[in-house]
Amino acid sequence: MENIFYGKSFLKEIDFTREELLYLIDFAAHLKELKQKNISHRYLEGKNIALLFEKTSTRTRAAFTTAAIDLGAHPEYLGKNDIQLGKKESVEDTAKVLGSMFDGIEYRGFSQKAVEALAEFSGVPVWNGLTDEWHPTQMLADFLTIKEHFGKLEGLTLAYVGDGRNNVAHSLLITSAILGVTISIVTPEELFPEKSLIDLADKCAKQSQAKILVTADIDQGVAGADIIYTDVWVSMGEEAGFKERIDLLLPYQVNQNLMAKTKKTDTIFLHCLPAFHDLATEVGEEIKEKYGLTEMEVTDEVFRSNQALQFQQAENRMHTIKAMMAATLGELFIPKV
Ligand code: CP
Ligand code: NVA
Repeated sequence: MENIFYGKSFLKEIDFTREELLYLIDFAAHLKELKQKNISHRYLEGKNIALLFEKTSTRTRAAFTTAAIDLGAHPEYLGKNDIQLGKKESVEDTAKVLGSMFDGIEYRGFSQKAVEALAEFSGVPVWNGLTDEWHPTQMLADFLTIKEHFGKLEGLTLAYVGDGRNNVAHSLLITSAILGVTISIVTPEELFPEKSLIDLADKCAKQSQAKILVTADIDQGVAGADIIYTDVWVSMGEEAGFKERIDLLLPYQVNQNLMAKTKKTDTIFLHCLPAFHDLATEVGEEIKEKYGLTEMEVTDEVFRSNQALQFQQAENRMHTIKAMMAATLGELFIPKV
């Protein structure tokens, strides 16, 4: 059976073409409809899927688990403290063992090199559930959400406001450039993405006609934005402390004042989650005690506004991860896109 995705890993966005990414997004929309109509779509009947997590997760773990079950596969969670990986066994050896028992492997961890090595040595499709560098499955959900809301991707402008050096910022920059969506990374100069990444984005943009802007100027960066996107100020595993990031990023907090600067009335808000928008978390409480802040990257007002689609976006993690697993591991007919 012909399927151009069959056996492929999903390690970073740049490994896929615009058409391939769009296919996965549209396939996810189709699977979402099947799920809503309770129509069976068990493309991975009898397959075994390993879920490796070196970092914590709610959405990615829940999405892979439920998507695998809906597809008829068996997901097995292998947490950092449950297996030998890292402490007593190399990535290469672990990959060879898991590849001999599982049909597909999800990996969330620190190093991009590790996820690449898993793919190289396991011989089965490997899906990147987030590394320090990239968060590719998040992108499928984000652009599905945008497409659902606006009915298209062409002609839209996305402004990412926050830490310009983290995985989500990298992935949004490159994915937008591949898909032809205009993107601004709005962040203080200290947090500008590496030059090599901006160069890569420029290269993709040449082909897709996307416009790319990396700026510290908030007014310029968010003007005309259809989507305002933010993420936490300190990512998992980072050494940087909250104090340093609060000092740099407080002016970039997504609040109603910043939303108004888009000068558009129909701008939506997105966040990959989890978010610090109130005091209902341990970290949130600690930050308030130390620095007097009650909200960080987004205010509770914006987070709870009608413009905020972060929970639709979170649900879409499941439909898009399902599409990616089914396409790369299923006996589907996808001759070309
Ligand atoms: N957005 C996201 O990846 O969420 P989790 O860390 O909860 O998986
Ligand atoms: N940048 C965040 C994303 C979490 C989904 C982190 O890596 O912690």
